Amino acid sequence: MRILYLFFSIFLFFSFASYANSGKNIFDSYCTVCHSSSMASMFGAPAAHDITAWNERKENAFSRAITFDNSIKDSLGEKREDYIINELVKTANSGTDKGMPPKGTCNDCTDDDLKSVIKYMSSAE
Ligand code: HEC
Repeated sequence: MRILYLFFSIFLFFSFASYANSGKNIFDSYCTVCHSSSMASMFGAPAAHDITAWNERKENAFSRAITFDNSIKDSLGEKREDYIINELVKTANSGTDKGMPPKGTCNDCTDDDLKSVIKYMSSAE
Protein backbone atom coordinates (compact mmCIF):
# COMPACT_ATOMS: atom_id res chain seq x y z
CA MET A 1 0.00 0.00 0.00
CA ARG A 2 2.77 2.39 0.94
CA ILE A 3 4.32 2.00 -2.48
CA LEU A 4 1.03 3.15 -4.00
CA TYR A 5 1.17 6.35 -1.99
CA LEU A 6 4.71 6.85 -3.19
CA PHE A 7 3.66 6.50 -6.80
CA PHE A 8 0.73 8.79 -6.23
CA SER A 9 2.96 11.48 -4.70
CA ILE A 10 5.36 11.24 -7.60
CA PHE A 11 2.45 11.56 -10.01
CA LEU A 12 1.19 14.65 -8.17
CA PHE A 13 4.64 16.19 -8.15
CA PHE A 14 4.97 15.85 -11.91
CA SER A 15 1.47 17.15 -12.54
CA PHE A 16 2.39 20.31 -10.65
CA ALA A 17 5.76 20.50 -12.37
CA SER A 18 4.10 20.45 -15.77
CA TYR A 19 1.56 23.00 -14.61
CA ALA A 20 4.48 25.27 -13.68
CA ASN A 21 5.55 25.06 -17.31
CA SER A 22 2.25 26.41 -18.59
CA GLY A 23 2.11 29.20 -21.15
CA LYS A 24 1.73 32.01 -18.66
CA ASN A 25 4.69 30.92 -16.56
CA ILE A 26 6.99 30.60 -19.52
CA PHE A 27 5.79 33.97 -20.77
CA ASP A 28 6.52 35.59 -17.40
CA SER A 29 10.00 34.07 -17.26
CA TYR A 30 11.23 34.50 -20.84
CA CYS A 31 9.00 36.38 -23.24
CA THR A 32 7.64 39.31 -21.27
CA VAL A 33 10.90 41.29 -21.63
CA CYS A 34 10.06 41.96 -25.26
CA HIS A 35 6.42 40.94 -25.65
CA SER A 36 4.79 42.80 -22.74
CA SER A 37 2.45 45.58 -23.83
CA SER A 38 4.86 48.21 -22.48
CA MET A 39 8.00 46.87 -24.23
CA ALA A 40 6.69 45.32 -27.44
CA SER A 41 6.55 48.47 -29.57
CA MET A 42 10.14 49.30 -28.66
CA PHE A 43 11.29 45.89 -29.92
CA GLY A 44 8.88 45.68 -32.85
CA ALA A 45 7.40 42.54 -31.34
CA PRO A 46 3.69 41.62 -31.30
CA ALA A 47 2.44 42.46 -27.80
CA ALA A 48 0.86 39.80 -25.66
CA HIS A 49 -2.95 39.82 -25.93
CA ASP A 50 -2.89 42.36 -28.78
CA ILE A 51 -5.37 40.44 -30.91
CA THR A 52 -4.95 42.70 -33.96
CA ALA A 53 -1.18 42.29 -34.00
CA TRP A 54 -1.43 38.52 -33.52
CA ASN A 55 -4.09 38.11 -36.20
CA GLU A 56 -1.74 39.74 -38.66
CA ARG A 57 1.05 37.37 -37.54
CA LYS A 58 -1.30 34.42 -37.92
CA GLU A 59 -2.34 35.38 -41.45
CA ASN A 60 1.30 35.74 -42.46
CA ALA A 61 2.11 32.41 -40.83
CA PHE A 62 -0.67 30.72 -42.79
CA SER A 63 0.61 32.25 -46.05
CA ARG A 64 4.05 30.86 -45.26
CA ALA A 65 2.60 27.43 -44.51
CA ILE A 66 0.78 27.47 -47.88
CA THR A 67 4.01 28.09 -49.77
CA PHE A 68 5.29 24.78 -48.37
CA ASP A 69 2.08 22.87 -48.98
CA ASN A 70 -0.47 24.49 -51.25
CA SER A 71 -2.98 21.70 -50.64
CA ILE A 72 -3.77 23.15 -47.19
CA LYS A 73 -4.97 26.51 -48.49
CA ASP A 74 -8.67 25.68 -48.10
CA SER A 75 -8.24 24.31 -44.57
CA LEU A 76 -10.81 25.61 -42.16
CA GLY A 77 -11.42 25.85 -38.43
CA GLU A 78 -9.21 23.94 -36.05
CA LYS A 79 -7.16 22.43 -38.85
CA ARG A 80 -6.27 25.91 -40.09
CA GLU A 81 -5.38 26.96 -36.53
CA ASP A 82 -3.08 23.93 -36.27
CA TYR A 83 -1.14 24.92 -39.37
CA ILE A 84 -0.86 28.46 -38.04
CA ILE A 85 0.36 27.54 -34.58
CA ASN A 86 2.87 25.04 -36.00
CA GLU A 87 4.23 27.71 -38.30
CA LEU A 88 4.53 30.20 -35.42
CA VAL A 89 6.33 27.55 -33.35
CA LYS A 90 8.71 27.13 -36.27
CA THR A 91 9.59 30.85 -36.32
CA ALA A 92 9.81 30.95 -32.53
CA ASN A 93 12.31 28.06 -32.66
CA SER A 94 14.47 29.59 -35.35
CA GLY A 95 14.11 33.22 -34.32
CA THR A 96 14.03 35.99 -36.92
CA ASP A 97 16.51 38.55 -38.18
CA LYS A 98 14.20 41.30 -36.90
CA GLY A 99 14.98 40.67 -33.28
CA MET A 100 13.19 37.51 -32.20
CA PRO A 101 15.91 35.37 -30.57
CA PRO A 102 15.88 31.57 -31.20
CA LYS A 103 13.35 29.91 -28.86
CA GLY A 104 12.70 33.38 -27.41
CA THR A 105 15.68 32.61 -25.09
CA CYS A 106 13.82 29.66 -23.51
CA ASN A 107 16.40 27.07 -24.49
CA ASP A 108 14.72 24.27 -22.53
CA CYS A 109 11.35 24.90 -24.16
CA THR A 110 9.90 22.03 -26.17
CA ASP A 111 7.63 22.61 -29.17
CA ASP A 112 4.65 21.97 -26.89
CA ASP A 113 5.90 24.57 -24.40
CA LEU A 114 6.27 27.12 -27.19
CA LYS A 115 2.83 26.18 -28.46
CA SER A 116 1.20 26.85 -25.11
CA VAL A 117 3.00 30.15 -24.55
CA ILE A 118 2.16 31.38 -28.08
CA LYS A 119 -1.49 30.42 -27.53
CA TYR A 120 -1.37 32.37 -24.28
CA MET A 121 0.23 35.44 -25.89
CA SER A 122 -2.07 35.51 -28.89
CA SER A 123 -5.32 35.08 -26.94
CA ALA A 124 -7.34 37.74 -25.18
CA GLU A 125 -6.23 37.81 -21.53
C1 HEC B 1 14.78 39.89 -27.12
C2 HEC B 1 13.38 40.14 -27.34
C3 HEC B 1 12.43 38.96 -27.48
C4 HEC B 1 12.21 37.91 -26.61
C5 HEC B 1 12.91 37.63 -25.29
C6 HEC B 1 11.14 37.10 -27.18
N1 HEC B 1 10.75 37.65 -28.38
FE1 HEC B 1 9.36 36.86 -29.66
N2 HEC B 1 9.67 38.40 -30.95
C7 HEC B 1 10.54 39.46 -30.74
C8 HEC B 1 10.48 40.36 -31.89
C9 HEC B 1 11.29 41.63 -32.07
C10 HEC B 1 9.54 39.80 -32.78
C11 HEC B 1 9.15 40.31 -34.17
C12 HEC B 1 10.17 39.72 -35.11
C13 HEC B 1 9.84 39.85 -36.56
O1 HEC B 1 8.91 40.56 -36.94
O2 HEC B 1 10.54 39.18 -37.35
C14 HEC B 1 9.05 38.57 -32.15
C15 HEC B 1 8.11 37.74 -32.75
C16 HEC B 1 7.62 36.59 -32.17
C17 HEC B 1 6.65 35.71 -32.77
C18 HEC B 1 5.98 35.90 -34.12
C19 HEC B 1 6.76 35.18 -35.17
C20 HEC B 1 6.09 35.29 -36.51
O3 HEC B 1 6.14 34.30 -37.23
O4 HEC B 1 5.54 36.34 -36.87
C21 HEC B 1 6.45 34.68 -31.91
C22 HEC B 1 5.52 33.49 -32.11
C23 HEC B 1 7.27 34.93 -30.75
N3 HEC B 1 7.98 36.09 -30.94
C24 HEC B 1 7.32 34.11 -29.65
C25 HEC B 1 8.13 34.36 -28.53
C26 HEC B 1 8.14 33.49 -27.37
C27 HEC B 1 7.28 32.25 -27.20
C28 HEC B 1 9.05 34.03 -26.50
C29 HEC B 1 9.44 33.53 -25.14
C30 HEC B 1 9.71 32.10 -24.98
C31 HEC B 1 9.62 35.21 -27.13
N4 HEC B 1 9.02 35.36 -28.36
C32 HEC B 1 10.62 35.99 -26.59
C33 HEC B 1 11.38 39.64 -29.66
C34 HEC B 1 11.49 38.78 -28.59
